[in-house]
Amino acid sequence: MSNNVLEVKNLSAGIEEREILHDVNFTIKKGEVHVLMGPNGAGKSTIGNVIMGNPRYQVTGGNIIFNGEDVTEYSADKRAKAGIFLSFQEPLEVPGLPLDGFIKNALEQKTGERVRIWDFKKELKKAMDVLSMNESYGKRNLNVGFSGGEKKKAEILQLLMLKPDLAILDETDSGLDVDAVRIVSKGIEEYMRETNGSLLIITHSTRILDNLNVDYTHVCVNGHIIETGDGSLVEKINEGGYESFLEERK
Ligand SMILES: Nc1ncnc2c1ncn2[C@@H]1O[C@H](COP(=O)(O)OP(=O)(O)OP(=O)(O)O)[C@@H](O)[C@H]1O
Ligand SMILES: [Mg+2]
Repeated sequence: MSNNVLEVKNLSAGIEEREILHDVNFTIKKGEVHVLMGPNGAGKSTIGNVIMGNPRYQVTGGNIIFNGEDVTEYSADKRAKAGIFLSFQEPLEVPGLPLDGFIKNALEQKTGERVRIWDFKKELKKAMDVLSMNESYGKRNLNVGFSGGEKKKAEILQLLMLKPDLAILDETDSGLDVDAVRIVSKGIEEYMRETNGSLLIITHSTRILDNLNVDYTHVCVNGHIIETGDGSLVEKINEGGYESFLEERK
């Protein structure tokens, strides 16, 4: 069996009349960590949204293959059940829905089975401990009144509980204080260890990558992947920025 978890093939996509992504290609194998970098507005979040199946974006060409199945036409819901997870750059607030109930429901949707409440509580407590989250957050409405950092932790809590085959983390580290970055990074490491999942991390910083072994780095500029390299590419970008990087290609 192939080890490919995600294959993005000649993917072009946009919003309304505007094409944002042009002929994007990359493949993520089981257990791999991929980093997606690029200047603001390059199309990184769009890549995450299109893989997740956000209906606001239209695929105008190419395919998204997940675990060997063509999911290009699947709804976001169906993709989530299949095992794709997207942590949002700006998580939404959902009044009236407690965080623990939201996670329990998502788990039941995914497995098609009822979750046993005691097991669930035990697992949730364990995951919250990893993230140094107070248990009381479970009873609070999803992201309502959460600080920026708390919202990001709540996303990682979902990651630890849902154990998706593929996790796309869109700037999960932005706005986090030093300790929170370390905690979130620990949570991501725990997900990789427990699930042997696959990661696509969209980021502008490198601190979140400290505990992870990066297999590939992709550079997205103007909706194109202009370069793919190993983990050392992250350092190169940090040192030279994107401009010098583009100069080199001329
Ligand atoms: N819902 C939308 N409506 C209109 N334009 C959009 C929408 N989503 C994305 N775009 C446009 O597509 C381009 C790519 O946006 P995207 O959010 O993917 O960038 P990004 O690489 O994630 O940037 P950043 O690093 O700032 O998060 C931008 O020019 C943006 O304005
Ligand atoms: Mg973005």
